[in-house]
Amino acid sequence: MKDTLQKILEEARQSLQAVTDEKTLEELRVKYLGKKGVIKEFLGQLGSLEIEMRKELGRIANEVKDEVERLLEEAENRLKSLKREAKLKEGVVDISLPVKSFPVGYPHPLTLVTQKMVSIFQSMGYTVVEGPELEKEEYNFDMLNIPKHHPARDDHDSFYVIEGWLMRTHTSPVQIRTMLAKKPPIAVIVPGRCYRRDAVDATHSHTFHQMEGLVVGENISFADLKGTLLLWAKLMFGENTQIRLRPDYFPFTEPSAELAVTCPVCHGPGCPVCKHTGWVELMGCGMVEPTVLKNCGIDPSKYSGFAFGLGIERVAMTVYGVKDIRHFYENDIRLLEQFRA
Ligand code: DAH
Repeated sequence: MKDTLQKILEEARQSLQAVTDEKTLEELRVKYLGKKGVIKEFLGQLGSLEIEMRKELGRIANEVKDEVERLLEEAENRLKSLKREAKLKEGVVDISLPVKSFPVGYPHPLTLVTQKMVSIFQSMGYTVVEGPELEKEEYNFDMLNIPKHHPARDDHDSFYVIEGWLMRTHTSPVQIRTMLAKKPPIAVIVPGRCYRRDAVDATHSHTFHQMEGLVVGENISFADLKGTLLLWAKLMFGENTQIRLRPDYFPFTEPSAELAVTCPVCHGPGCPVCKHTGWVELMGCGMVEPTVLKNCGIDPSKYSGFAFGLGIERVAMTVYGVKDIRHFYENDIRLLEQFRA
């Protein structure tokens, strides 16, 4: 009977060493160690033997069982590592192959100009605020001292959406929103998209971008406006840049001015960008009209302020030499690629 046990063990060893799949392994486990397995069956036959013999064979049978368990574990580990190796081979990566290139984007020139303006004004302590593009007529016009039938409304051919609401024609209504929400001191800039019912050509678009500035506080004077905008011009276009202020008219500022900078392209002698004048007109500005302060609940006898507004496209066209405003909206990769950082 000892031979039988030896045979069982030998057979088990051979089959377990040869096993190559999990299903067979499991079948072998059942065959040798299962409730109705070979070893159990063997032990069942010992009942009729005498006690000493039974003990002896029982001990050996247990040793065989332990050995079979060990062989099973060994086979299991072997199968596992075979599986792992196969998987590694499957997912092998050839690191010497050239990588797939993927296209990256570049910041849009309008974004670049906006970011530069924002960082200049932030360095002077201004906060960036935004307002809605769908705006109340009241904020876009009335409270900015542009009542119905005021001729200035003619310059702002507007997209009305419903009675009393339009796509904002400039960023100036955010002046109103800011002053209604916050008491002085105020120093904000407002970048944003604006809309006018203009026919599209090389210098006009129905959708464009502006940046507004507003400062309100005690004793704010025209000298503050001039100093601020001169500093801005130098940081924006270079240390040697000069500014020129000429009288202008806007309903929401008094006095109002138009600001020009020395041509950032030719720096003076004249070129197509400055139409051979040496100057490029860039923004409207002025001292906030006292009526506008009053409209927003700010006492004009205590506070004064200045404001300015400019077209981002105009600045971008000037500094980058873009001759047609439509280029900014066509997203032609050949244009955008020229603005790699
Ligand atoms: N909102 C004016 C426009 O769209 C630009 C402007 C002029 C804004 C003078 C101002 C300002 O804040 O003071 O034409």
